[in-house]
Amino acid sequence: MRTQVAIVGAGPSGLLLGALLHRHGIDNVIVEQRSGDYVLSRIRAGVLEQVMVDLMDEAGVGARMHREGLPHDGFEMAFDHDRLRIDLHGLTGKRVMVYGQTEVTRDLMDHRAQAGLQTVYEADGVRLEGWEGTRPAVVFQHGGREQRLEADFIAGCDGFHGVCRRTPPPDAVHTFEKVYPFGWLGLLADTPPVHHELIYGSSGRGFTLASMRSHTRSRYYLQCRLDEKVEDWSDEAFWAELRRRLPADAAEHLVTGPSLEKSIAPLRSFVAEPMRFGRLFLAGDAAHIVPPTGAKGLNLAAGDVGLLARALAEHYAGSDEGLDGYSARALKRVWKAERFSWWFTMLMHQFPENGGFGLRVQRAEFDFLCQSRAAQQALAENYVGLPL
Ligand code: APR
Ligand code: PHB
Repeated sequence: MRTQVAIVGAGPSGLLLGALLHRHGIDNVIVEQRSGDYVLSRIRAGVLEQVMVDLMDEAGVGARMHREGLPHDGFEMAFDHDRLRIDLHGLTGKRVMVYGQTEVTRDLMDHRAQAGLQTVYEADGVRLEGWEGTRPAVVFQHGGREQRLEADFIAGCDGFHGVCRRTPPPDAVHTFEKVYPFGWLGLLADTPPVHHELIYGSSGRGFTLASMRSHTRSRYYLQCRLDEKVEDWSDEAFWAELRRRLPADAAEHLVTGPSLEKSIAPLRSFVAEPMRFGRLFLAGDAAHIVPPTGAKGLNLAAGDVGLLARALAEHYAGSDEGLDGYSARALKRVWKAERFSWWFTMLMHQFPENGGFGLRVQRAEFDFLCQSRAAQQALAENYVGLPL
């Protein structure tokens, strides 16, 4: 098999890259280790920045997102009993789109099938060859035999646990990591959201987030210990704890129901540098992870892929400037989102190990946000997303 760009991983990064390259007339094949149904079963965040919305439109897959997505002009923060609304639109002129990552993935998969673009699902033992030279290839087992996909370039879109970042020699890859001492327990339910905007809440019992997927489907999170198990949390226990952590007037409107999904995710900040090794380019979770506070994961991935698609299009039009600048340019944006996600996480969660001093500094930061339009503007500017 031969193509122009071999993409490893059919998560949102790989699928969006494939769709954008197709728009530029560039052939691509995706090699994914899981099944399509498995990829669609993963529940992730659901807030899209304008940059992501624009890229979906550019790829020609934005129609359902515009029909069913919920544009949000602001969100709420709650600190104990005090509330602050961040007026995203008033502060920045921009808004965000609430539309689940599962739906983004479904739209991209449908588009790929309609366009007749090839995706190899359930590929085993994926490995890369020749990425240091001019004839890279992705080799894998499929249908009981070894297959070789030759390409001009390889895009490593295979997420944090993928094979691409681990392919170059370890001393060529510099990694930076911060692990947080807690996780998020998430619950999805077909109940109307507790509030028409998202609420990020900090209470003495821990962080909570009230989010949504639609007017009839809500998504809630609770800060939990890393040694807790989903099985330890009945739906009733989750709802009772959520009610305790939400601000009282919001809790009054909480509608509960059976969970559709419950899961625990650890929180991590991680960056691998550089994002290019010869003819191998990393994008999305393969190169970086943010804690979910602020929902930057998918948006950062989209930013990488937007830059990479443009750089590859320029290559085929005769210039390698974009490819040569890709890693440095992407990392500048990545580190700003890493900083913001870390800051928002540190502000809103309980860190008992930081003692009373830490808690009072967090409270002072919230009080400052309440008083200062400049501070709110800095938060809003980061939340709606920085330009590509
Ligand atoms: N070979 C082929 N495919 C692989 C391999 C491998 N060795 N390892 C992992 N994959 C696949 C995974 O099964 C997954 O479908 O790569 C895909 C990576 O998808 P994501 O983990 O979703 O990463 P990405 O597409 O960069 O998405 C970034 O989406 O997943 C969220 O938190 C993430 O919000 C962020 C955004
Ligand atoms: C979500 O809806 O899953 C979500 C929203 C905002 C975040 C994180 C997750 O910051």
